[in-house]
Amino acid sequence: MRKLLVGSMGLVALLCAASALFAGPQVVAPGEPWLDDRGQQIQAHGGGMLLWKGTYYWFGEDRSPSNSPDKRYVACYSSKDLVHWKFRRQVLALTDPEHLGPHWILERPKVFANARTGKFVLYAHLDDGSYKLARVAVAVSDRIDGEYRYLRSFRPLDEESRDIGQFIDDDGAAYLIFESRPTKGFFIAKLSDDYLSVEKKVSFIQAPLEGGAVVHYGGLYYVAGSHMTGWRPNPNVYATAPSLSGPWTEFKDIAPPETNTYGAQSSMLLKIAGSKKTTVIFMGDIWRPKELWDSRYLWMPLEIEGGALHLPPPRKWELNVKTGETALGP
Ligand code: GAL
Repeated sequence: MRKLLVGSMGLVALLCAASALFAGPQVVAPGEPWLDDRGQQIQAHGGGMLLWKGTYYWFGEDRSPSNSPDKRYVACYSSKDLVHWKFRRQVLALTDPEHLGPHWILERPKVFANARTGKFVLYAHLDDGSYKLARVAVAVSDRIDGEYRYLRSFRPLDEESRDIGQFIDDDGAAYLIFESRPTKGFFIAKLSDDYLSVEKKVSFIQAPLEGGAVVHYGGLYYVAGSHMTGWRPNPNVYATAPSLSGPWTEFKDIAPPETNTYGAQSSMLLKIAGSKKTTVIFMGDIWRPKELWDSRYLWMPLEIEGGALHLPPPRKWELNVKTGETALGP
């Protein structure tokens, strides 16, 4: 009897510790409203991430209902632990730069830091309301948290470009990933030395995918993307290659296809090279097209082994950015 009592007390203590852990301050809660230091829902949809001088900067579409309907906004947040985010500011509040009409769009902003020029360069998908323009917009700033000054728009490598993604390799080289519908695939292309233009094709992957994301992990390159179903989720897929230029394997599902990636769409694969472990986080958007400001985020650590990548079912999890270690909730 005594043994039983002690045993069950141990179990209770364990459960309490576990629930304390996953109710604790370092927890990522996929699908739940993610609040910034002001208590407001983070507006960094279709976002990008930059680690700069030991701080993470998260940039994304700011869809706040209070925004002016004529402008398009990019917000910037900063964090040391990837969990608690400080709102820096709206780094871009742009008025239709190319006379694209009232429904013009600016989506999936990504910021790159250029060590050579000391400038921060922002890329975004620029389009008219019917998504026919298919260009990137480029804006620059002397400070990471803006304001960014609009420079110009163009089609990278003269190709149509819609969803864009960002990849910075371990050697610091910066790449833009962009989807090109006429060629039914997507490009991974190196930025010019000053990052102000897209210089060179590194890979063209023949697969009609968008939301393209790349990570270099354990000697392999992984590319992930979603099928083209607009705001509706679909089974996201991945492929691997020994080098960024390929050859790429066939695409496989990152999660059971019937889950439609648990309602999310890929935007980035973020590598945390900690002191004990390297973790790759799937950064996805759970879109709410009728209330885009209320779109949620699905961030989960990926299970990667022997060239196979798997997105586990979303649940609360803890991250230690210093060690790279994660702990998944029940
Ligand atoms: C998605 C794309 C989003 C947005 C949306 C509009 O396919 O990934 O960024 O453009 O379509 O329908």
